[in-house]
Amino acid sequence: MSVEPHLTWWKNVVIYQVYPRSFADGNGDGVGDLPGLIGRLDYLKALGVSALWLSPVYPSPMCDAGYDICDYTGIDPLFGSLADLDQLVSQAHNRGLKVLMDFVPNHTSDQHPWFVESRASRDNPKRDWYIWRDQPNNWRASIDGGSAWTWDEGSQQYYLHFFLPQQPDLNWHNPQVVEAMHNVLRFWLDRGVDGFRIDVVHCVGKDPSFADDPRCLAGETMVQINDQPYSHEVLRGLRRLVDRYPGDRVLIGEVNIRSTARVAAYYGASDELHMSFNFPPLDAPWDPVVFRLCIREVERCLGEQQAWPTWALSNHDNSRIRSRYGGSRAKAHAAAVMLLSLRGTPFIFQGDELALEDTQVTAQTRVDPGGRDGSRAPLPWTAQPPHGWTGKTPWLPFPPDAAALAVQAQENANDSTLNLYRRLLRCRQDSPALRVGDWTELPSHPQLLAYRRHCEEDERIVCINFDEAEHTFALVGDWLIEVASDRHGENRPFAGIVGPLQAVLLRPTGVAHER
Ligand code: BGC
Repeated sequence: MSVEPHLTWWKNVVIYQVYPRSFADGNGDGVGDLPGLIGRLDYLKALGVSALWLSPVYPSPMCDAGYDICDYTGIDPLFGSLADLDQLVSQAHNRGLKVLMDFVPNHTSDQHPWFVESRASRDNPKRDWYIWRDQPNNWRASIDGGSAWTWDEGSQQYYLHFFLPQQPDLNWHNPQVVEAMHNVLRFWLDRGVDGFRIDVVHCVGKDPSFADDPRCLAGETMVQINDQPYSHEVLRGLRRLVDRYPGDRVLIGEVNIRSTARVAAYYGASDELHMSFNFPPLDAPWDPVVFRLCIREVERCLGEQQAWPTWALSNHDNSRIRSRYGGSRAKAHAAAVMLLSLRGTPFIFQGDELALEDTQVTAQTRVDPGGRDGSRAPLPWTAQPPHGWTGKTPWLPFPPDAAALAVQAQENANDSTLNLYRRLLRCRQDSPALRVGDWTELPSHPQLLAYRRHCEEDERIVCINFDEAEHTFALVGDWLIEVASDRHGENRPFAGIVGPLQAVLLRPTGVAHER
């Protein structure tokens, strides 16, 4: 990795989200696992990403696909063993790939020994590790949208859960909880992981008055609105802990509040998150006005405090990029150019580099109680069924057009999505302007979104056409099309026209360029 020495690695990279159960299956049981992933690390290296974030692989009853953890320092046998995890970290590191684990601090599984003890009796020493009340308030939970409180018959109180009843929320006001969770981080940091994606980190602090929230009456869930000062205190503690480790370990938070200004607060004074996810762009429809506003907001809110942005257009909780944009491959390609050329660290959700669409589930094949199976389907590796998943039928049906979209089918196809991602990632790697340069919006037709990236001598211009009609985009100077989302005009001088649903990445002519 040719990273400028003065820059932390996480500002310089593209991060790939691995959803392990659907990435690659090493033992033929129909569920992806760590050995399967290790066997495909060269694919990630060839794609050009430099870090991977692993969704949870810990022991779990899997009520929420592993986000209900019953042992924070183990590996569920479904995914392999601790030795496999160590092997993953060392094999990834050998290839210059960083590894981020998913840390889930807000809640455990109800099968976690801590909760089993906590619910055993009101005077159990772990009672206060969770949040118990005689009376519920009106808070609503996510996933099933019901009350955030469940009555425990045995101990005759309600416990709080921002998600499923099988995911009781921890009480981070209890110092023993803080210490136990700090030990979890130490455990993984000592094993060499490079950092964490922190699940719904804005939820760990709760309103101490437990007052009804009027927004819950309007149907909002606490995960969308919870935003308490105490979460920041918790985060500062986590940050102090990771900062004591050598090697720039990173904390990336999932702050699910739909306000970039509020998200910016979770960077603290450079003493909380290193980076936070920001969801408004992920929710945005295919509309240049909306994207323009989202990007300006990021530049404004995060720029003010020199907080480093992230960009993600899909993940395991949301529709895939292509499905969200009406199934259009052209739009998915143009979106990829945008995702990989904005200022900040981009996240690619596995399979978006293949332009996969959401899989269709039926009442029989549905798994997730929250209806989020669509984007979680297994990755097709080979064109021929069972697409590299030998053995048992995979846990979810393959996405549509699996044969045509398989890695094998796209690998050597000139105009494939995979090839586009690889080209974009190579350009990014070669260009300091794209990786770390500043961002300036350029005037353009209202259906276009155009911006300049700039770092010292290096410069790139990006123009995305959201329209089905071509539009002119006038530029001073001579520019070459370095990447075109549809390959039209690539490596030729830019003639001032952007085609229908086309995105172009331009570099000044005359810049020496070796491939
Ligand atoms: C994860 C979800 C999960 C929830 C509860 C999230 O935001 O991404 O998949 O259901 O947290 O852990």
